[in-house]
Amino acid sequence: MNELHQKLESLKGQALQAFLNEKTADSLYQMKVYFLGKKGLLTDILKDLGKLPPEDRPQVGALANQLKNELEKTYQSRLNEIQRTEVEQKLKSESIDVTLPAVGVCKGSIHPVSQILTEICSLFADMGFDIFEGPEIETDYYNFEALNIPKDHPTRDMHDTFFLPDQRVLRTHTSPVQIRLMEKEKPPLRMIAPGVVYRRDSDVTHTPMFHQVEGLVVDENITLAHLKGVVETFLRKIFDSKTRVKFRPSFFPFTEPSAEVDIGCVFCKGDGCRVCKQTGWLEIMGCGMVDPEVFCSVSIDSERYTGFAFGMGVERIAMLKLGIDDIRLFFENEIDFLKQF
Ligand code: PHE
Repeated sequence: MNELHQKLESLKGQALQAFLNEKTADSLYQMKVYFLGKKGLLTDILKDLGKLPPEDRPQVGALANQLKNELEKTYQSRLNEIQRTEVEQKLKSESIDVTLPAVGVCKGSIHPVSQILTEICSLFADMGFDIFEGPEIETDYYNFEALNIPKDHPTRDMHDTFFLPDQRVLRTHTSPVQIRLMEKEKPPLRMIAPGVVYRRDSDVTHTPMFHQVEGLVVDENITLAHLKGVVETFLRKIFDSKTRVKFRPSFFPFTEPSAEVDIGCVFCKGDGCRVCKQTGWLEIMGCGMVDPEVFCSVSIDSERYTGFAFGMGVERIAMLKLGIDDIRLFFENEIDFLKQF
């Protein structure tokens, strides 16, 4: 009887100590199972109850019950304590300090080239132009041949072409889209073709990849006056309603006659400055009346139809409009530069 009594006492001491040591509800519960569970230590000890003389059994039984109750109580109060600390810690870690400074939110913006491109497209859309697109990888036929630039023609040199191993090229201008449109649709046509073009060229005013917008109008009785009207209207809308516009004779194999269009320098207003190289004028686009040879390659009757085409560099217009003096800035992805627009 004494031995059993002692075992119970020592179990009580161990259990109390263990309960107090546990720090989480889970591990505390495991301790409870270890001492008081169905297969726990207490059950183990009470297996020997049968070996006692019958008159001693009620007393030890009562003792065991009392012990069990006491340990249950300690367990419960320790559990409450642990849960309370857990809640407190959770509240503390999840609390929001409303006095902390806010985290800055970085707002994105549309790339300046995209902004200008969109503006150009919507101005032409307002004038009734459709938007048409072509591939950036072109065949020699579309980029040159059909545009009346035969093999070995000297103007091919001006294009600084990137050639692919299979003889195709990265298009050097958006003019091949003229051919693709005229092959597909019959006049009257009024379209612009915005897109990326590639040339082996790199300095403050040239990047190997840049954007152009091509324009093409084909119908009966289209004249140079229509070309002038459309180009002038566009330039006075995209720059300034007082912008001076000048057509200078030039040469492109796919237009005849051809012209280079200049605008009065947007920086010095014509007085002469570094940007316009003291001339007071800035070159802004190429244009001309569609050459009958081009109509011939797309089987459009050049006796019945006439047309005009123009092509401009988007980065150039963006630089002039936004006052940027190095074209490479557009493609360096410098966040401080881009943020300004
Ligand atoms: N494709 C010419 C260029 O890239 C521009 C142009 C287009 C000229 C249409 C005349 C007509 O230089």
